[in-house]
Amino acid sequence: MAADTVKIFFIADIVGESGLEFLETMLPPLLDKHQPDFVIANGENSHEGRGINRTIVQRLYDIGVHVITGGNHSFDKWKIFSYMKTDPNLLRPLNYPKGNAGFGFGIYDLPGSDKKIGVLNLQGRTFMQQIDDPFATSEWAIKRIKEETDIIFLDFHAEATAEKLAMAWHLDGQVSVIVGTHTHVPTNDARIFPQGTGYITDAGMTGPFNSVIGMKKKTSINRFLLGTPQRFLVADKENRLCGVIAEINTETAKCTHIDSIIYPEFQNSKP
Ligand SMILES: [Fe+2]
Repeated sequence: MAADTVKIFFIADIVGESGLEFLETMLPPLLDKHQPDFVIANGENSHEGRGINRTIVQRLYDIGVHVITGGNHSFDKWKIFSYMKTDPNLLRPLNYPKGNAGFGFGIYDLPGSDKKIGVLNLQGRTFMQQIDDPFATSEWAIKRIKEETDIIFLDFHAEATAEKLAMAWHLDGQVSVIVGTHTHVPTNDARIFPQGTGYITDAGMTGPFNSVIGMKKKTSINRFLLGTPQRFLVADKENRLCGVIAEINTETAKCTHIDSIIYPEFQNSKP
């Protein structure tokens, strides 16, 4: 790790087995290229598109992921509940009501350094479940994390761009980086806010893009054509790895660089 900089590699929502297998193939060369100090992945869609299991958690650790974040599908596969209570590196949004299994934030040693990083996972409420207030929850969680480190990474899992932007302005200067997740569509707005918080509205998806946000096109289209629920089928073609690379000054805890990754890039012209 460089003396005064920590580089974080964030992997956007991993969707299904094809997204996971693509990640297992593509991540090692990307880690070689970018040499991050810490790797975080959102895994809430990794098991059949909804939820995660113990085998997948281990597969992600095996390829170099340090912390796994979650979202509204973190609790979809109940078999993970007992394990969630035992693994502080597997997070789910903190602002679910008390009594749910698992951890919503963690404080971790940065490899090759005496510094620590706090990783916080929150979930929005606009067009989503009406869980506890993520804004109020962020305040006490950040206060608690700052007892040990000022370097804080937030995965804000939310549907509405306005809620994500409001969170960014609310927390500017209090956390190092905020990465939005959940929509599976990468946004082109990676930037550093005035008080030093790096931000992107949505990191996108690591999974099949020949799809409607990871689901097979036909059933997704039928939902809109017919107005009725359709069978939930995960797609598997045209995988991409989306993510974010962020650099943080470890003395000031401010973000010095943030950029999105889409690999391979989208084709936006044809001969
Ligand atoms: Fe989600």
